Amino acid sequence: LTVPRIRARKKDGVTEEPIVMLTAYTARQAQLLDAHCDILLVGDSLAQVIYGLESTVPVTLEMMANHAAAVVRGSYHSVVVVDMPFGSYEASKEQAFESASFLLKQSGAAAVKLEGGEAMAETVAFLNQRGIPVMGHVGLTPQAVNVLGGYAARGRSDSEAEKIVSDAKALDDAGAFAIVIEGVVEPIAIEATKAVSCPTIGIGASAQCDGQVLVTDDMLGMFDRVPRFVKQYEDIASIIEKTVATYAEEVRARSFPSEEQTYQPKD
Ligand code: KIV
Ligand code: NA
Repeated sequence: LTVPRIRARKKDGVTEEPIVMLTAYTARQAQLLDAHCDILLVGDSLAQVIYGLESTVPVTLEMMANHAAAVVRGSYHSVVVVDMPFGSYEASKEQAFESASFLLKQSGAAAVKLEGGEAMAETVAFLNQRGIPVMGHVGLTPQAVNVLGGYAARGRSDSEAEKIVSDAKALDDAGAFAIVIEGVVEPIAIEATKAVSCPTIGIGASAQCDGQVLVTDDMLGMFDRVPRFVKQYEDIASIIEKTVATYAEEVRARSFPSEEQTYQPKD
Protein backbone atom coordinates (compact mmCIF):
# COMPACT_ATOMS: atom_id res chain seq x y z
CA LEU A 1 0.00 0.00 0.00
CA THR A 2 1.03 3.60 -0.54
CA VAL A 3 0.01 6.98 0.79
CA PRO A 4 -1.66 8.03 -2.50
CA ARG A 5 -3.75 4.86 -2.47
CA ILE A 6 -4.89 5.56 1.09
CA ARG A 7 -5.79 9.11 0.08
CA ALA A 8 -7.68 7.80 -2.97
CA ARG A 9 -9.92 5.57 -0.84
CA LYS A 10 -12.19 8.60 -0.47
CA LYS A 11 -13.61 9.67 -3.82
CA ASP A 12 -16.08 12.53 -4.16
CA GLY A 13 -16.78 12.34 -0.44
CA VAL A 14 -17.42 8.58 -0.40
CA THR A 15 -15.22 5.87 1.12
CA GLU A 16 -16.43 2.44 0.10
CA GLU A 17 -13.82 0.52 2.06
CA PRO A 18 -13.05 2.05 5.47
CA ILE A 19 -9.37 2.45 6.37
CA VAL A 20 -8.11 0.05 9.04
CA MET A 21 -5.40 1.49 11.27
CA LEU A 22 -3.81 0.27 14.51
CA THR A 23 -0.80 1.36 16.52
CA ALA A 24 2.40 -0.71 16.49
CA TYR A 25 5.61 -0.14 18.42
CA THR A 26 7.62 -3.32 17.88
CA ALA A 27 8.67 -5.54 14.97
CA ARG A 28 6.77 -8.60 16.19
CA GLN A 29 3.60 -6.61 16.81
CA ALA A 30 3.89 -5.19 13.29
CA GLN A 31 4.26 -8.71 11.83
CA LEU A 32 1.06 -9.82 13.53
CA LEU A 33 -1.00 -6.78 12.50
CA ASP A 34 0.40 -6.05 9.07
CA ALA A 35 -1.74 -8.27 6.84
CA HIS A 36 -4.96 -7.05 8.45
CA CYS A 37 -4.30 -3.31 8.42
CA ASP A 38 -3.97 -0.51 5.88
CA ILE A 39 -1.93 1.73 8.17
CA LEU A 40 0.33 0.96 11.13
CA LEU A 41 0.77 4.02 13.33
CA VAL A 42 3.87 4.31 15.45
CA GLY A 43 1.99 6.45 17.94
CA ASP A 44 3.54 8.60 20.61
CA SER A 45 1.06 6.76 22.86
CA LEU A 46 4.10 4.53 23.35
CA ALA A 47 4.79 7.04 26.15
CA GLN A 48 2.15 5.41 28.33
CA VAL A 49 1.93 1.98 26.70
CA ILE A 50 5.65 1.14 26.54
CA TYR A 51 7.46 3.60 28.79
CA GLY A 52 5.03 4.08 31.71
CA LEU A 53 5.06 7.87 31.24
CA GLU A 54 2.13 10.04 32.36
CA SER A 55 1.65 11.84 29.03
CA THR A 56 3.11 11.99 25.52
CA VAL A 57 4.90 15.27 26.26
CA PRO A 58 8.33 13.74 27.19
CA VAL A 59 8.62 11.59 24.04
CA THR A 60 11.75 12.25 21.92
CA LEU A 61 12.57 11.96 18.22
CA GLU A 62 15.03 9.17 18.99
CA MET A 63 12.36 7.09 20.75
CA MET A 64 10.01 7.51 17.79
CA ALA A 65 12.72 6.76 15.23
CA ASN A 66 13.80 3.55 16.98
CA HIS A 67 10.29 2.15 17.32
CA ALA A 68 9.39 3.21 13.80
CA ALA A 69 12.43 1.37 12.41
CA ALA A 70 11.36 -1.78 14.26
CA VAL A 71 7.81 -1.51 12.89
CA VAL A 72 9.05 -0.97 9.34
CA ARG A 73 11.21 -4.11 9.67
CA GLY A 74 8.14 -6.06 10.75
CA SER A 75 5.81 -4.96 7.95
CA TYR A 76 5.67 -5.11 4.18
CA HIS A 77 2.05 -4.38 3.32
CA SER A 78 0.75 -1.54 5.50
CA VAL A 79 1.71 2.11 5.23
CA VAL A 80 3.79 2.98 8.30
CA VAL A 81 3.06 6.43 9.75
CA VAL A 82 5.15 7.91 12.59
CA ASP A 83 3.96 10.43 15.16
CA MET A 84 6.06 13.57 15.42
CA PRO A 85 6.71 14.01 19.15
CA PHE A 86 5.84 17.13 21.11
CA GLY A 87 8.44 19.88 20.66
CA SER A 88 9.83 18.52 17.39
CA TYR A 89 7.69 20.48 14.91
CA GLU A 90 5.71 23.35 16.44
CA ALA A 91 8.38 26.09 16.41
CA SER A 92 8.59 26.46 12.62
CA LYS A 93 8.00 24.65 9.37
CA GLU A 94 11.78 24.32 8.99
CA GLN A 95 12.06 22.63 12.39
CA ALA A 96 9.23 20.32 11.34
CA PHE A 97 11.04 19.40 8.12
CA GLU A 98 14.29 18.64 10.00
CA SER A 99 12.46 16.41 12.46
CA ALA A 100 10.24 14.69 9.93
CA SER A 101 13.12 13.95 7.56
CA PHE A 102 15.13 12.55 10.49
CA LEU A 103 12.23 10.22 11.38
CA LEU A 104 11.78 8.98 7.83
CA LYS A 105 15.51 8.56 7.17
CA GLN A 106 16.10 6.66 10.41
CA SER A 107 13.10 4.39 10.07
CA GLY A 108 12.03 3.99 6.46
CA ALA A 109 8.46 4.97 7.37
CA ALA A 110 6.28 6.52 4.65
CA ALA A 111 4.69 9.49 6.42
CA VAL A 112 4.43 11.47 9.63
CA LYS A 113 1.49 12.51 11.78
CA LEU A 114 1.32 15.74 13.75
CA GLU A 115 -1.26 17.29 16.06
CA GLY A 116 -3.04 20.60 15.50
CA GLY A 117 -5.24 22.24 12.88
CA GLU A 118 -5.09 25.73 11.38
CA ALA A 119 -1.88 26.52 13.28
CA MET A 120 -0.15 23.60 11.54
CA ALA A 121 -1.60 24.07 8.04
CA GLU A 122 1.41 25.95 6.67
CA THR A 123 3.74 23.28 8.08
CA VAL A 124 1.68 20.48 6.52
CA ALA A 125 1.90 22.17 3.09
CA PHE A 126 5.64 22.82 3.52
CA LEU A 127 6.41 19.17 4.31
CA ASN A 128 4.08 17.82 1.64
CA GLN A 129 5.69 20.02 -1.04
CA ARG A 130 9.08 18.69 0.03
CA GLY A 131 8.31 14.99 -0.17
CA ILE A 132 6.91 14.20 3.26
CA PRO A 133 3.25 13.14 3.38
CA VAL A 134 1.45 14.31 6.52
CA MET A 135 -1.49 12.89 8.45
CA GLY A 136 -3.30 15.46 10.59
CA HIS A 137 -4.82 14.98 14.05
CA VAL A 138 -7.64 17.17 15.44
CA GLY A 139 -10.11 17.23 18.32
CA LEU A 140 -8.59 15.75 21.44
CA THR A 141 -4.87 16.25 20.82
CA PRO A 142 -3.04 14.58 23.72
CA GLN A 143 0.19 16.58 23.31
CA ALA A 144 -1.85 19.66 24.31
CA VAL A 145 -2.95 18.08 27.60
CA ASN A 146 -1.41 20.94 29.57
CA VAL A 147 -3.53 23.45 27.66
CA LEU A 148 -6.70 21.36 27.42
CA GLY A 149 -6.48 20.35 31.08
CA GLY A 150 -7.31 16.68 30.48
CA TYR A 151 -8.56 14.09 28.03
CA ALA A 152 -12.29 14.91 27.92
CA ALA A 153 -14.19 14.63 24.63
CA ARG A 154 -14.22 17.78 22.50
CA GLY A 155 -16.83 19.58 20.44
CA ARG A 156 -19.60 20.01 23.01
CA SER A 157 -19.65 23.81 22.79
CA ASP A 158 -20.40 25.66 19.54
CA SER A 159 -16.99 27.34 19.49
CA GLU A 160 -15.15 24.05 20.04
CA ALA A 161 -17.27 22.36 17.38
CA GLU A 162 -16.60 25.11 14.82
CA LYS A 163 -12.88 25.00 15.58
CA ILE A 164 -12.68 21.22 15.01
CA VAL A 165 -14.38 21.51 11.61
CA SER A 166 -12.30 24.52 10.51
CA ASP A 167 -9.10 22.79 11.73
CA ALA A 168 -9.92 19.73 9.65
CA LYS A 169 -10.66 21.90 6.59
CA ALA A 170 -7.39 23.80 6.98
CA LEU A 171 -5.39 20.55 7.10
CA ASP A 172 -7.28 19.20 4.08
CA ASP A 173 -6.58 22.39 2.10
CA ALA A 174 -2.92 22.16 3.12
CA GLY A 175 -2.66 18.70 1.57
CA ALA A 176 -2.90 16.32 4.52
CA PHE A 177 -3.50 12.81 3.10
CA ALA A 178 -5.74 11.82 6.02
CA ILE A 179 -6.87 13.28 9.35
CA VAL A 180 -7.30 11.54 12.70
CA ILE A 181 -10.35 12.81 14.59
CA GLU A 182 -9.94 11.87 18.25
CA GLY A 183 -12.38 12.20 21.16
CA VAL A 184 -15.00 14.30 19.39
CA VAL A 185 -18.79 14.16 19.85
CA GLU A 186 -20.27 12.19 16.98
CA PRO A 187 -22.22 14.89 15.08
CA ILE A 188 -19.10 17.06 14.84
CA ALA A 189 -16.96 14.11 13.74
CA ILE A 190 -19.50 13.47 10.97
CA GLU A 191 -19.60 17.16 10.02
CA ALA A 192 -15.79 17.30 9.80
CA THR A 193 -15.72 14.10 7.75
CA LYS A 194 -18.19 15.61 5.26
CA ALA A 195 -16.30 18.90 5.17
CA VAL A 196 -12.98 17.45 3.97
CA SER A 197 -11.90 15.75 0.74
CA CYS A 198 -9.30 13.49 2.40
CA PRO A 199 -10.22 10.47 4.55
CA THR A 200 -10.85 10.95 8.27
CA ILE A 201 -9.82 8.27 10.73
CA GLY A 202 -11.84 8.17 13.92
CA ILE A 203 -10.93 7.23 17.47
CA GLY A 204 -13.67 8.03 19.94
CA ALA A 205 -15.43 9.78 17.06
CA SER A 206 -17.92 8.03 14.73
CA ALA A 207 -18.40 4.87 12.65
CA GLN A 208 -19.09 7.30 9.80
CA CYS A 209 -15.47 8.43 9.69
CA ASP A 210 -13.59 7.07 6.66
CA GLY A 211 -11.55 4.74 8.84
CA GLN A 212 -10.87 3.79 12.45
CA VAL A 213 -7.81 3.56 14.67
CA LEU A 214 -7.27 2.15 18.16
CA VAL A 215 -4.26 1.68 20.36
CA THR A 216 -3.56 -2.02 19.81
CA ASP A 217 -2.66 -2.71 23.43
CA ASP A 218 -5.98 -1.15 24.53
CA MET A 219 -8.16 -3.22 22.23
CA LEU A 220 -6.26 -6.38 23.18
CA GLY A 221 -6.77 -5.75 26.88
CA MET A 222 -3.07 -5.29 27.56
CA PHE A 223 -3.14 -1.82 29.07
CA ASP A 224 -4.66 -1.14 32.49
CA ARG A 225 -6.52 2.16 32.01
CA VAL A 226 -8.55 2.59 28.83
CA PRO A 227 -10.96 5.34 27.77
CA ARG A 228 -14.65 4.66 27.16
CA PHE A 229 -14.20 4.70 23.36
CA VAL A 230 -12.00 1.61 23.44
CA LYS A 231 -13.66 -1.68 22.66
CA GLN A 232 -11.72 -4.44 24.40
CA TYR A 233 -11.79 -7.29 21.92
CA GLU A 234 -9.68 -9.54 24.12
CA ASP A 235 -8.26 -9.79 27.62
CA ILE A 236 -4.65 -10.63 26.81
CA ALA A 237 -3.42 -9.34 30.19
CA SER A 238 -5.30 -12.09 32.03
CA ILE A 239 -3.91 -14.72 29.64
CA ILE A 240 -0.38 -13.47 30.39
CA GLU A 241 -1.00 -13.42 34.14
CA LYS A 242 -2.40 -16.97 34.14
CA THR A 243 0.48 -18.24 32.03
CA VAL A 244 3.14 -16.59 34.16
CA ALA A 245 1.52 -17.91 37.35
CA THR A 246 1.70 -21.46 35.92
CA TYR A 247 5.37 -20.98 35.03
CA ALA A 248 6.17 -19.66 38.51
CA GLU A 249 4.40 -22.62 40.12
CA GLU A 250 6.31 -25.12 37.99
CA VAL A 251 9.67 -23.51 38.69
CA ARG A 252 8.96 -23.55 42.42
CA ALA A 253 7.86 -27.21 42.21
CA ARG A 254 10.92 -28.10 40.08
CA SER A 255 8.56 -29.55 37.46
CA PHE A 256 9.95 -27.18 34.84
CA PRO A 257 12.13 -27.92 32.96
CA SER A 258 11.04 -31.52 32.39
CA GLU A 259 12.69 -34.18 30.26
CA GLU A 260 11.42 -32.62 27.04
CA GLN A 261 13.17 -29.36 27.71
CA THR A 262 16.53 -30.71 28.93
CA TYR A 263 19.57 -31.97 27.00
CA GLN A 264 21.17 -35.32 27.83
CA PRO A 265 24.63 -36.37 26.61
CA LYS A 266 23.17 -39.24 24.52
CA ASP A 267 20.15 -37.48 22.87
O1 KIV B 1 -0.40 8.03 19.61
C1 KIV B 1 -1.40 7.42 19.19
O2 KIV B 1 -1.59 6.21 19.45
C2 KIV B 1 -2.36 8.16 18.38
C3 KIV B 1 -3.62 7.47 17.98
C4 KIV B 1 -4.46 7.16 19.16
C5 KIV B 1 -4.37 8.23 16.95
O3 KIV B 1 -2.10 9.28 18.05
NA1 NA C 1 -0.33 10.21 19.05
